[in-house]
Amino acid sequence: MLKKIILGTLTLGIMLGSTTISSAQTPRAIAVCKSCHFLDKGVDVKKNNLGQGLKEIVGRKISISGVESLGDTWTEEALNTWLTNPKKVKPSTKMMFRQKKEKKRAKIIEALKAL
Ligand code: HEC
Repeated sequence: MLKKIILGTLTLGIMLGSTTISSAQTPRAIAVCKSCHFLDKGVDVKKNNLGQGLKEIVGRKISISGVESLGDTWTEEALNTWLTNPKKVKPSTKMMFRQKKEKKRAKIIEALKAL
């Protein structure tokens, strides 16, 4: 009986351990977002008073103002336009990031889909 409990606890511990390791691995394409965004938190949590959490961003309602030209949802297309040059969409934005290379943007959006 006791042996079973100990074994069970050990197995659980190992399983939990591996989950933690895999969730700590951020795809390289979106590692750069982490300085201003939490990737594992939602829209309500800003990092360093900058960007909203990016969890489930693809298909999520746009929460920031001044980007009406993109529509009201973060579709892949809207994200593609935003990430190309946020300042072009919204001159006053504090998002100091842009990715001019289409292939790299595609990788970012692919990685965002998994959040
Ligand atoms: C230097 C800081 C910084 C970096 C790096 C950065 N962002 Fe942002 N991001 C911001 C800020 C600040 C805002 C809020 C912009 C505003 O209100 O104009 C924002 C807003 C956003 C939003 C809108 C969120 C919403 O809820 O409507 C998305 C989407 C986004 N960022 C995606 C990304 C992605 C993807 C990356 C990485 C490839 C990234 N950002 C990198 C600072 C940053």
